[in-house]
Amino acid sequence: MNVQWYPGHMTKAKRQMQEDIKLIDLIIELVDARVPLSSRNPDIDELGKNKARLILLNKSDLADERQNEAWKSYFQEKGFYVVKVDSRNRSGMKAIQIAIQEACKEKTERDKRRGIKNRPIRAMVVGIPNVGKSTFINTFAGKACAKTGNKPGVTKGKQWIRLNKGVELLDTPGILWPKFEDQEVGIRLALVGSIKDDILNMEELSLKLIDYLRTRYSGVLEQRYSVSEEGLPVDVLSAIAKVRGCLKKGEELDYAKAASILFEEFRSGKIGRITLEWTEEQDR
Ligand code: G4P
Repeated sequence: MNVQWYPGHMTKAKRQMQEDIKLIDLIIELVDARVPLSSRNPDIDELGKNKARLILLNKSDLADERQNEAWKSYFQEKGFYVVKVDSRNRSGMKAIQIAIQEACKEKTERDKRRGIKNRPIRAMVVGIPNVGKSTFINTFAGKACAKTGNKPGVTKGKQWIRLNKGVELLDTPGILWPKFEDQEVGIRLALVGSIKDDILNMEELSLKLIDYLRTRYSGVLEQRYSVSEEGLPVDVLSAIAKVRGCLKKGEELDYAKAASILFEEFRSGKIGRITLEWTEEQDR
């Protein structure tokens, strides 16, 4: 399966990000906790090399908690500050506030030594499309925010969202593009719904999902659909189609419909909390 994405936008996006990064102290990078590596663009490490870094394992409510913890340690060992998040939920935002202060304490101390008081921390949210950047900004900024006007000089043309706790967010998130050199990356992003379904062969993709689930999360399909997980992946899809009454005219099984049910239930977490990339695989 050949998954492609909009390479035309990449150069422009990268140039824009290089400019924006000059204005900030901290990069808040959202990754999808179900596919923490595939949903990153490694160029951000080069682009942001002199900045404080915070990784948010977003959509952690949909990912396997054991893997969430493993990924948290994985990124912490690489020197990032890390917080697990469900961006739709305000309750986790306090932990992010604390992590931001922590990640920027060098800057705050430097300011203090120079006699600069209360200069807000400037941050930018970055991530690939659909990872949850807008949702996060809305939840994090909440009602307490006010957009600051353009300031002369450095911030010309930029809008900042001032939070009342000493943090200013650039109101437009930085859009990164995933790395597609490895086809597996494209497939994993497709599985979690970060690539438009209409350009994909959903039936073929559903077979990959079935194969992954029964290997890594043995029993979850059986539990959800009361089907056997034995045989070829297409046998399992066929059994799901039967159980869910997916039929075309003339009693023929409707595989496309069964695949779409499977994806809806997987992506919304109904099948369970599933992580498609495990830390243990990274060193292979
Ligand atoms: P973006 O700006 O990075 O492109 O992403 P956006 O905020 O639009 O979020 C994409 C989808 O992901 C939205 O679903 C949003 O509700 C969902 N989402 C964001 N953060 C979380 C999270 O932490 N947990 C869960 N479970 N979902 C999250 P949507 O509006 O339904 O769109 P779609 O999924 O139908 O595309």
